[in-house]
Amino acid sequence: MTKLYIHSTDPGIAEKIKPEVYQKILERRRHTQELIGETLENTETITLEIGCGHGHFLTEYGKRFPNEICVGIDVNRGRIYKARRKVERALLTNVHFIECESLEFLALLPDKIRIQKTWILYPDPWPKKRHLKNRIIQAKFLEALGKKCKQQGRLYLRSDYEPYLEWSSELIAESPNWEPTDDYEWPEITTTVFQELTDNRHFSMVAQLEPSK
Ligand SMILES: C[S@@+](CC[C@H](N)C(=O)[O-])C[C@H]1O[C@@H](n2cnc3c(N)ncnc32)[C@H](O)[C@@H]1O
Repeated sequence: MTKLYIHSTDPGIAEKIKPEVYQKILERRRHTQELIGETLENTETITLEIGCGHGHFLTEYGKRFPNEICVGIDVNRGRIYKARRKVERALLTNVHFIECESLEFLALLPDKIRIQKTWILYPDPWPKKRHLKNRIIQAKFLEALGKKCKQQGRLYLRSDYEPYLEWSSELIAESPNWEPTDDYEWPEITTTVFQELTDNRHFSMVAQLEPSK
């Protein structure tokens, strides 16, 4: 697994690691920030997929919704490479894949760009108690995402692991930013790699940014 501390935007991280390693982290982050800026130069609103893996879903989604600017992020470099090859082959100009961690991406995304929809499909379940901190859905993640979303922005979550949905529902219920909604249609565009590995077992939920946020 990619070491997630290298994506931490917490300034306190500098004290915990070797200065030369920290410099490399800052360099990589500057590069990612430039890439995000260049890629989304004239963009106001994006559709985001976090943990996009090999890009199956977002590539098909981008074909179906050519007017949406879609950004897929993943911490796995090899998967981002394969995802990019897919959009190149499909000659799509509205779908982009960037190697980046979720909280880091939210910190680096320019404020003028707003997220309309966020997809998280088959996130790593991290079933053990001591690993729960590694799950993408956390209170601080929901807060950071809420700050970057358009009014009534939506978060679409799907997993084969029901406890992940229960965990997320609880955090969403406690969050001042988000509320669950039943008023949605899930666009069944394509299965993802992990969806196929689980024989299409799925539990889904959608949350909406509260109108006042
Ligand atoms: C189980 S895979 C699912 C991939 C794809 N969504 C699918 O359904 O086939 C989870 C993916 O999330 C990525 N990931 C895990 N934590 C992440 C984070 N904090 N930010 C971005 N990507 C993350 C992993 O590298 C992995 O590719």
